[in-house]
Amino acid sequence: MELLDPKEFIITRKRKKYKFALFHNSPLCFEFAEWKKASDVDVVEVGAGNAHFLVELAARHPGQQFVAVDVKADRLQSGARQAAERHLKNIRFVRARADQIGELFSAHSLSALWLTFSDPFPRTRSAGRRMTHPTFLTLYAEVLKSDGSLLIKHDNPRFFAWSLEQLVAEHWRIMELTFDLHESTLSEEYKILTAYEQRWLSEGLTTQFVRAMR
Ligand SMILES: C[S@@+](CC[C@H](N)C(=O)[O-])C[C@H]1O[C@@H](n2cnc3c(N)ncnc32)[C@H](O)[C@@H]1O
Repeated sequence: MELLDPKEFIITRKRKKYKFALFHNSPLCFEFAEWKKASDVDVVEVGAGNAHFLVELAARHPGQQFVAVDVKADRLQSGARQAAERHLKNIRFVRARADQIGELFSAHSLSALWLTFSDPFPRTRSAGRRMTHPTFLTLYAEVLKSDGSLLIKHDNPRFFAWSLEQLVAEHWRIMELTFDLHESTLSEEYKILTAYEQRWLSEGLTTQFVRAMR
């Protein structure tokens, strides 16, 4: 049996605390309780991780306001650091849960809501936690404008097929769809890589993509 070095865990824990402190200190980062419900936000990514995808989108659209939402402060902090290095003034990072989205943004105020490589929760009994579950779809419909879009990128065919079924059952209209985004002729912006995508694309990951409107 391979022996573990306990010091590694102490270092890991400290690194997380260090990143937490950076999150706390960053003017771009907000805890849920600090955030004031906003009506000036255009584009949101939920479960954004380190949000490098959204940072790149924000850099390309300085006239729009972006918000990355995730439960993990250390990941969001990585995006906030990148945004600060790039002197971006149009992106913020909020530590909150997907189910709190209605408390973060005014009703019918968002143009776009992204879900990229959400945790698939493959067990049937965990279906309620999937970010494309009807409970979440209802919340997204409440914050999206009437002409706003929900955009989903995913590598897991079962999760993606299940999500499409939920969208159709909940009366969303499918506006764009591909089972291989990077081989498609769809917008180059959709093809900006997320951290997860960047890591697994070389291992044969295929990105499926859908844009839907309610
Ligand atoms: C597989 S990662 C993908 C991260 C990023 N979108 C990417 O493509 O690199 C899923 C992310 O969703 C976040 N997450 C999971 N459940 C969540 C929830 N209920 N609310 C907000 N974020 C959540 C996790 O913390 C994690 O950062």
